[in-house]
Amino acid sequence: MDIKEALQIADQLVSSQTGEHLDDLQKAVIQGVLQKQNYKEIAKSCKRSESRIRNVAYQLWKLLSEQLQEDINKHNFRPTLERLQLTSAPIIIQNNNKQNNNHNFNFGSQDLLSINHTIKNAKKKSQFPNHDLTLAPKIIDFYDRETELTTLSNWIFNQNTSLISVLGLFGIGKTTLVKRFVDLNLQQFEVIIWKTLKFPKSFELLLDNLLKVCQQEPKENTDNKIRQLLDIIIEKKCLIILDDVQNIFSAGEFSGQYKSEYQDYQNFFNLMTEVKHQSHFILISQEQCSAMNYLDEELYPIKCLKLSGIENIDILKNTSLKDKENWLKLVTLYEGNTIYLQDIAGLIKDIYDGSVSEFLAEDNLIITTKMQSHFRQLFNRLSSPEKELILKLSQFENAVTREQLRQDLELSSTDFINSLQSLQKRYLVNKSLNEDKVVFHLSSVFKEYVRNFC
Ligand SMILES: Nc1ncnc2c1ncn2[C@@H]1O[C@H](COP(=O)(O)OP(=O)(O)OP(=O)(O)O)[C@@H](O)[C@H]1O
Ligand SMILES: [Mg+2]
Repeated sequence: MDIKEALQIADQLVSSQTGEHLDDLQKAVIQGVLQKQNYKEIAKSCKRSESRIRNVAYQLWKLLSEQLQEDINKHNFRPTLERLQLTSAPIIIQNNNKQNNNHNFNFGSQDLLSINHTIKNAKKKSQFPNHDLTLAPKIIDFYDRETELTTLSNWIFNQNTSLISVLGLFGIGKTTLVKRFVDLNLQQFEVIIWKTLKFPKSFELLLDNLLKVCQQEPKENTDNKIRQLLDIIIEKKCLIILDDVQNIFSAGEFSGQYKSEYQDYQNFFNLMTEVKHQSHFILISQEQCSAMNYLDEELYPIKCLKLSGIENIDILKNTSLKDKENWLKLVTLYEGNTIYLQDIAGLIKDIYDGSVSEFLAEDNLIITTKMQSHFRQLFNRLSSPEKELILKLSQFENAVTREQLRQDLELSSTDFINSLQSLQKRYLVNKSLNEDKVVFHLSSVFKEYVRNFC
């Protein structure tokens, strides 16, 4: 883009906002900024005071920001105009403003397409040109989770937290919550990228992908690509979401251990908390990753949001189940887990003609085939000491102390303690206080599965 083109676009943006064309000082500011002059140099070349030029520039960026509905300043002015040019139909300028003929631009006298229309189109298409939410789910119904949404907003907008993990058991609502947060805050981020690691790819390919969304050609090696991405997250406010992160962790080991081929992810997450930038990463995972384990919260800008079930009958609103007065019992029985509840609602419709009362009257905690399949996958991911510990814990009716659990278990102290910690980081074992004693228990749905199927 040359200076003349930039001046033409800026002129049209300003005139469609104010009805007046750019004046000489505004043109001098644009020209100077495009030539990488600072305000002092611009002031010198047009023989005005620096403060006058700063003021003109301030008003100009404000006008352009309002017109484009995004934050424009001297740093992003050129890339924004270039983006407008790229994402819009070719801009053909028409000079319709008969009252104001002081300006110097030769816009041509032919009857041409209205620039206002083109710019509006460009704005519509380019409102979020660096948002890639292709892989994010579409949220239609969303209930509850107000506290969690506020927490995320607070961490991101007030505390500038770089790395956030949203954690919890499968189906608890992690992906849905984060997508809802994104939908509510689209305009707050210049770049938003949603990637899923359901079928994880190498870290290098992920980097290529992220850079391409930011319209950058990835450079040759990983270090250069990381440098490129760093420049972006320093310069722009980005939100990068990686979903299903547990898939880069090893099965058969304690939780949150990176598979050797994905070790670079760990280094990258650590780097993102160490470098100063203005962007945010959200990792969604069923297992807490080690980057979140060991870093000191006081020193590093990281946070974990652990999701529990939703204790709200709204979650059953669109299921067409009967006996609303019993819905809360059903929600509690299935621990507010949205996936369990969707599944069990289907079963109640098929077998009990939608009658929640009839289902509850049988006093059975049914583990559907879908739940079984999820739990089987989870159980198969556990290390052997964790499996032993789970089997033992499933034999108790109530929560037990460490000492009670330890009895008759043939595990070394190290394996026992590590297993207990690891299972909590998979959200399979819960810890609570009973008369000042720490006690552990399995969720009742998972316990039922272990008792019957393991
Ligand atoms: N707050 C909510 N309001 C309404 N529906 C919800 C809510 N949270 C989750 N759901 C529904 O529950 C289902 C499971 O939610 P989601 O996919 O977000 O779980 P998840 O924790 O990401 O699970 P996984 O670990 O298996 O990826 C989805 O179909 C979603 O529509
Ligand atoms: Mg998910």
